[in-house]
Amino acid sequence: MKKLFITVLAIALFTNPAKSDEGMWIPLFLGELNEAEMAAMGMRITAEDIYSENHSSLKDAIVIFGGGCTAEVISGEGLILTNHHCGFGRIQSHSSLEHDYLTNGFWAMDKSEELTNPGLKVTFLIRMEEVTEQVLEGVELNMNESDRSAKIEENIIKIKEDAVKDTRYNALVKSFFCQNRYFLFINEVFEDVRLVGAPPSSIGKFGGDTDNWMWPRHTGDFSLFRIYADSANNPAKYSVHNIPYKPKKHLTISTRGVKQDDFTFIFGYPGSTTEYIPSFGVDLQVNYINPVRIALQGKRIDIYKQAMNDSPEIRIQYAAKLAGIANGWKKSIGENRGIMRLKTIDKKEAFELEFQEWAGTSEERRLKYRTLLDEFKKIYNELSPVYRNSIFLGESVFGIELIKYARTYRDMVNASKDKNAGVEKIQALASDLKKASDTFYKNYQVAVDKDVFIALMTALFSDKDQSELPAVLTRLYNNCDQDVEKMCEKIYSRSVFTSKEKLIPLLDNYKRPDYKILEKDIAFKIAVETGIFANSRYVSVISANSLKLDSLMRIYMAAQIEMQPMKNFYPDANFTLRISYGNVSGFNPSDAVAYNYFTTLEGIMEKEDPDIFDYVVDEKLKELYLNKDYGNYADQDGTMHVCFTATNHTSGGNSGSPVLDADGNLIGLNFDRCWEGTMSDIDYDISQCRNIGLDIRYCLFIIDKFAGAGHLIDEMTIVAD
Ligand code: ARG
Ligand code: GLU
Repeated sequence: MKKLFITVLAIALFTNPAKSDEGMWIPLFLGELNEAEMAAMGMRITAEDIYSENHSSLKDAIVIFGGGCTAEVISGEGLILTNHHCGFGRIQSHSSLEHDYLTNGFWAMDKSEELTNPGLKVTFLIRMEEVTEQVLEGVELNMNESDRSAKIEENIIKIKEDAVKDTRYNALVKSFFCQNRYFLFINEVFEDVRLVGAPPSSIGKFGGDTDNWMWPRHTGDFSLFRIYADSANNPAKYSVHNIPYKPKKHLTISTRGVKQDDFTFIFGYPGSTTEYIPSFGVDLQVNYINPVRIALQGKRIDIYKQAMNDSPEIRIQYAAKLAGIANGWKKSIGENRGIMRLKTIDKKEAFELEFQEWAGTSEERRLKYRTLLDEFKKIYNELSPVYRNSIFLGESVFGIELIKYARTYRDMVNASKDKNAGVEKIQALASDLKKASDTFYKNYQVAVDKDVFIALMTALFSDKDQSELPAVLTRLYNNCDQDVEKMCEKIYSRSVFTSKEKLIPLLDNYKRPDYKILEKDIAFKIAVETGIFANSRYVSVISANSLKLDSLMRIYMAAQIEMQPMKNFYPDANFTLRISYGNVSGFNPSDAVAYNYFTTLEGIMEKEDPDIFDYVVDEKLKELYLNKDYGNYADQDGTMHVCFTATNHTSGGNSGSPVLDADGNLIGLNFDRCWEGTMSDIDYDISQCRNIGLDIRYCLFIIDKFAGAGHLIDEMTIVAD
């Protein structure tokens, strides 16, 4: 009796409808699952206004920008808005010493000045549809995993073909709820996307990596592009004859301002979350993967930062490299702190006890689920240390630029040894490598890399027994009297990859037998042999176990849904279009500290430091500030608001997503999360998890008042009062 009572209680505990604010919802089901709650929270439009296949809806204004960001259409002439950090690579590619758009910003004063971006695509979703039944057709319960996957793969190919036959669309099928359900996405891809405007980095990247992931934040993280189409308004490759795309929908912008508790929602493409994994999976992330990344990437970051502080040349050379590592590194630190603070592992373990009990309550459940957690445990026990070792080796060996770079010559060596590879292929490879070498050496400092080598190899040899390391490394280490500095000297004095002067003559005049020089090279050897070692020791174990985990997760996910029939489940992020909703709100990050929900230009002036690159303030911006020349964009309180936080559940990929108000108007541009809440990819907590958006009024102020690009504002549809 007592047992039954506990079980009932447990079910009640875990079946409360998901706390509002948590969740990345499928637009197709908003009407069914979320509309009532959204309305109760303050929304004044309908689910149909957000996502509809029958008439134009907000979804028609949302695109995937490039490979990993979101953007939205904000004018009837195909103008789109995304983050500065999403457009960064493109802005950089147009920059040179004469036209340094990264530093000074770029503004096309009419359409003829807009810059083309070969390879940049934006993707509209035409419609989505659940296709679980069709995907699982012919899949039997007792099928083994490989037959099952083969059948599913075969079905998916057919579904995609049928879906876009005789259309100009693309089709994509993705799994949801850990392969329990499947959805088809019909997309339209535009390929002529031009750069329209970007603020200087001192605005678009204000605070840099120092402020990244942090609140209070003052980054004007936006850039503008435009979609072009052919004369029939269809996608087309770049052509001078293309014209601005006429969208089905563009967002209306509200400059009414943002207040505490206002309802907001975010429409965009979150990349990946793992909310439903068992405690062992969280343990792997927090205790095996993140600590290694934090420690080893941290060493590199310290060395880069020191060198950048000491030399303006190195500051430029290493800025992008530092940003690349620092973003993930800082996220891992925040995630670990958040998971510790929320006691996520304990909470999951408590849930697993309840689960185990529930799984014993009927014969059918016993058969299906009783051994599930034990199987997970067994696999993670085997997987976790291997994962750690693999990441340790990868981060330390390939964190060294010389070795990572040497690895890019593998194809050349293989092709040179391959009798079937023709001369043209070899020549083409040599010319590609030569081009890549320009980029590499432009931003390479041997002295910095040597410091990294010493730090990372010291960490590797003190963490690992020699039997766990590739022979090429231990041999060198022992030949150098187990002295990492000697080892470093030996490698860097011998390798051809340490300087352009040594390498370029070889590439300029490359003949097939020259592969012997590359193959003998010490850095190349380390790269190749480490790769082979990692493959044989780690990669096969990891991939076999990951496959097993996928199939266990499929069952565990289904079981969690079955166990909590009243809970409104949302699927983990998988880079498909989702809606998150919540309220504008600050938070208390730690004892006695309260964060306001918005920042202002005053804060930019407070942070200003002409000697620190991240905190330089542009003269023009200062002048506007001193004259309080804010146009129509000041808040009612008279200040210029810059960023604001809300409780929307977001993740990487939501960069560039629109933050919308209760009427579906654009009020902000999402670009980050607060550090205290970065564990939301695993465990969302309304008291700590906040997305950070740029206040749209600051964005308009910069376009209009700072850049003098009022013609862009004229294209937009703005509601004020
Ligand atoms: N943290 C944000 C994201 O994950 C912004 C990254 C770009 N900004 C930077 N300072 N590195 O993408
Ligand atoms: N900056 C992230 C991105 O590039 C979004 C922030 C997040 O991870 O929530 O997508």
